[in-house]
Amino acid sequence: MGQGPQIDRRALLAAGAALGLAPALPALAADQDARVRALLKQMTLDEKIGQTHQPAGGRQKALNSKIDATALDLVRKGGVGSYLHVAGAAFLRELQRTAVEESRLKIPLLFAIDVVHGFRTLYPVPLAMAATFDPEIVRATARMAAVETAVSGLHWTFAPMVDIARDPRWGRIVEGAGEDPYLGSVMAAAQVRGFQGQGLNAKDSILACAKHFGAYGAAAGGRDYDSAELSDRTLNEVYLPPFHAAAKAGAGTMMTAFNDLNGEPTTANAALVRGVLKTQWTWPGLVVSDWNAILELINHGVAETPVQAAALALKAGVDMDMASGVYAAHLKTAIAQDPSLLPLLDQAVARILTAKMRLGLFDDPYRFGDPEREKTIFVGPEHRAIAREAARKAVVLLKNDGGLLPIAPTTRKIAVIGALATDSLSQLGSWKARGQVGDVAPLLPALQATAPAGTEIVHVAGASPRSDDESGVPAAVAAAKAADLVLLMVGEDFDHSGESRSRSDLSLPGAQETLARAVLATGKPVVVLLPSGRPLVAPEVLEKAPAVLATWFLGVEAGPALADILFGKAAPGGRLPVGFPRATGQSPTYYAHVPTGRPADPDLAKDTVRYHDVDIGPLFPFGHGLSYAAFAYSDLALDRDSIAPTGAVKVSLTLANTGAVEADEVVQLYVRDPVAGVARPVKELRGFHRLTLKPGERRRVTFTLAAAQLAIWSPGGWRIEAGKVEVMVGSSSADIRLRGAFAIAAPGKGRDPAAAILTPVSVV
Ligand code: BGC
Repeated sequence: MGQGPQIDRRALLAAGAALGLAPALPALAADQDARVRALLKQMTLDEKIGQTHQPAGGRQKALNSKIDATALDLVRKGGVGSYLHVAGAAFLRELQRTAVEESRLKIPLLFAIDVVHGFRTLYPVPLAMAATFDPEIVRATARMAAVETAVSGLHWTFAPMVDIARDPRWGRIVEGAGEDPYLGSVMAAAQVRGFQGQGLNAKDSILACAKHFGAYGAAAGGRDYDSAELSDRTLNEVYLPPFHAAAKAGAGTMMTAFNDLNGEPTTANAALVRGVLKTQWTWPGLVVSDWNAILELINHGVAETPVQAAALALKAGVDMDMASGVYAAHLKTAIAQDPSLLPLLDQAVARILTAKMRLGLFDDPYRFGDPEREKTIFVGPEHRAIAREAARKAVVLLKNDGGLLPIAPTTRKIAVIGALATDSLSQLGSWKARGQVGDVAPLLPALQATAPAGTEIVHVAGASPRSDDESGVPAAVAAAKAADLVLLMVGEDFDHSGESRSRSDLSLPGAQETLARAVLATGKPVVVLLPSGRPLVAPEVLEKAPAVLATWFLGVEAGPALADILFGKAAPGGRLPVGFPRATGQSPTYYAHVPTGRPADPDLAKDTVRYHDVDIGPLFPFGHGLSYAAFAYSDLALDRDSIAPTGAVKVSLTLANTGAVEADEVVQLYVRDPVAGVARPVKELRGFHRLTLKPGERRRVTFTLAAAQLAIWSPGGWRIEAGKVEVMVGSSSADIRLRGAFAIAAPGKGRDPAAAILTPVSVV
């Protein structure tokens, strides 16, 4: 379809081949393990503590700025295990040289940075990548990001962020995969595979870090850093599965969350980190704290002194201290007071050395970083091509009344309205790493280049998301009146979402609502382009505008990708990874809720589970997204009526493109356990597949669904109940086209979190 690289998706059995069979983090070879043990024996207490110390080598906007003579001296003494906020092949080579030539034990340093959606080539923000519903493009963007990161001398990214987010007020919803644990698990595994490539010792592989373990996304009221209050079932069924999937895909590291879970800060939660993650899941990777989080245990009120904070975090299983310096300054005292901490320190150091060994740094500490490639590889053509494909795939067509899109070739004059239409910085998104605004291909020239010759395109800012100034509205209205079609770009800028960017009001910021109303009142055909890092609430605008595209922040190829979609060079096929509520006060709301005794009813005379002042459910539900084509679903077949608790059923259907253009459809498989010992969600995603079909083309899609994917978390573990299971296949969580059922013949036990088990899909 259109331009850009063609990757043969058909050959990929989405979750099965690309993801589900990914190897877990392999154990070290016996000789490497022996080297780690031998090294540990030679280390002094100070050198051991030094390995757990990860100071900032710079600031996010001034990388390397803190590496001065004092810092180098500490490296020589073996007082540093890792640096974050550093970059640059030549610079890091020299820093590494100091460690491996001038320190007693010559232990290499680990260099880390947040590469969340790209290093220099920025890709769509993670929420947008989740909207692709395409693990292969997600893997591909992470792979290209890893190449640029490794070339710049870095070993480790603090990504993927796999926190489930059901409250769009939370600013960090932009960094994850949205509201659903199955989608979140698929995206987590895809990113780990992308960053870590064929294995950690392979060329250009970097360590992934699944964060922020375990319920950071459940912050009360969507306020960043706030407490999570969760049942054990919700924790295990909703918030932990993406971490499990990341672990299973071989994630080398994880980061603990800032917040507390039921009163226990995760950074001090031994039952969760040492218990669930390290012991129950037998995951052998490295755990790093979040920034300054060990010291913040004092603010949480669970430690009185930094010495106590150090002891608590070490006991919890936090191996490395990001930025607080508490381990470096106080672990020695803590161990003197309580010698039982020493074996725990040894375990932490062993995990750190093991990570370095896995990366091959003991054999070649300079295998990362290539000053020559660094000059040529950034934002190269292959990286741009993948960025464009990803951006096109991420766009979600929320509405298209009367088939307003794609833009008719007869359209002569287009008014582009909104300050965001020229805001290239925002297209870089929330984690920019080394991204540069000059790398962004902007919207207006792309529109001009893609439009039929002779099309006139004018731009008027009208209003900005950063100001209440309405003085530009009349000029925008005049431009709209003079045009055949309006592209109205209103939404958030990059800095409305992200860390500590929670909002209490999800409406259009600044004077944009006024602008939108005035432009819609002209009666001209209006296409709303909605950039954002979260679901927004603008019912009047979204209901009145005939066509709406959710455009997120799309990275360096934002302009051309949007132009491709608008002019029909590519058909939109993205889907919402989180529902858009009708009102901020509806949050949190999610499709996979459990039924109540009084299901929501449109009749307000009845007392049911709903708000009186707003319609039921989200404006645009999870999984929603339209196309320029139309798709028919038929012939659902299950290959058996009943399966054992250890068994699986094949669910097949036929999908046909009944439209006039080639386009993508995302087939979605939902399940429900209608009668169980505890109330079960009305629908749970358990499989999906995005495929491209030509007009008239039809395909048979088969999901292999295991009984274990219906398991219910209960105090003894994963319980599989006998009984009926309903199967629903459709185009969104609210657009079910086919229904079937099977039975689980007998009760049984599951092993892994149900939502973390990835469903193989085949297409013939
Ligand atoms: C964020 C992490 C990030 C770290 C290092 C923290 O404030 O919560 O997600 O990895 O900073 O930049």
